Amino acid sequence: MNFTTRLLTGTAVTLALALPAAAVEYKIAVGDGAGGTQEALGKAFVAALEEQSGGEMTAKLFVNGQLGDEQDTVSAAATGTLDFSILAINNITPFSPSVGTLTLPYVILSQDDAEKITQGEVGQQMIDQTIEDAGVRIIGWGYSGFRVLTNSKKPVSTVEDLQGLVIRVPKNEIMIETYKSWGINPTPMAWGETFAALQQKVVDGQDNPYMTVYAMKFDEVQKYITDLHYLFSIEPLIISEALFQDLSEEEQAQVLAAGEAATKASAEFLRTEEAKIRDELVSRGMEITEPASDEQEFMDLATAAVWPQFYDQIGGKEVLDNVLTSLGREPA
Ligand code: MLT
Repeated sequence: MNFTTRLLTGTAVTLALALPAAAVEYKIAVGDGAGGTQEALGKAFVAALEEQSGGEMTAKLFVNGQLGDEQDTVSAAATGTLDFSILAINNITPFSPSVGTLTLPYVILSQDDAEKITQGEVGQQMIDQTIEDAGVRIIGWGYSGFRVLTNSKKPVSTVEDLQGLVIRVPKNEIMIETYKSWGINPTPMAWGETFAALQQKVVDGQDNPYMTVYAMKFDEVQKYITDLHYLFSIEPLIISEALFQDLSEEEQAQVLAAGEAATKASAEFLRTEEAKIRDELVSRGMEITEPASDEQEFMDLATAAVWPQFYDQIGGKEVLDNVLTSLGREPA
């Protein structure tokens, strides 16, 4: 793509002063606030992109949903009005059900599982399918850790403790059904509205990883954490497929290499930062409760009720079985 075309494409703008004359600056939407996994992934990507392209390409991060709610950024990237977005995988699922396998409860049981699946053959299939379904290309994978449950009312250790709480969930069918399997009817709500809803007590709680709870300052409006492991949050970096196709082959290779470098940096960031962030949340007054009996009740209810409901949507039971066996587990 030549320089003139770049000016006419997407939201790219020139950086006349800071970089060489041919440099182009893209926009990256970031759903979470500063200080979390999404921002770390974005920063690593920008540094690698500048390095890979010798300063010809750079990008600017817009944290805290400044460029739109996470689900809206997928549509914007698909139509080419946004260049890149970093968001939770659960907010891509409504556009590409194939990635739903990664939001089924208790499929990914560790960070190693998450890295293995996303960076292997299954991850590549999901990338291809998401381009087809949603018009966006996943070029990097962020890892945020397990989504823990927070609430403002009481410690929750059992499914019984959960009853009566009003819990916000993303607009994601799989997550809604997971809470239903635990006996409550959750409140689906856009990410950008969640902090205010917690603050105004429209809802009592929500779930997200420690890193996200911290980046979003949820400790200011939530007291109790339940250390659940039902969903390991994967936070992809996506590029508008229209923009990607408009790049030269060399630029495409540079973007993909920068995405790979960012993926590695994200995995490292989670490994080194999560325990510190968890301690920080405790020092700010949050209380952590472990689920009773190694979470068995939560797990049994969710897997029995939710998995079979979504076989068709994810492309058949064999898709889940393929993921489970590639993680060394029994098929469903
Ligand atoms: C959500 O709860 O909607 C997302 O997980 C938010 C995020 O991207 O961190």
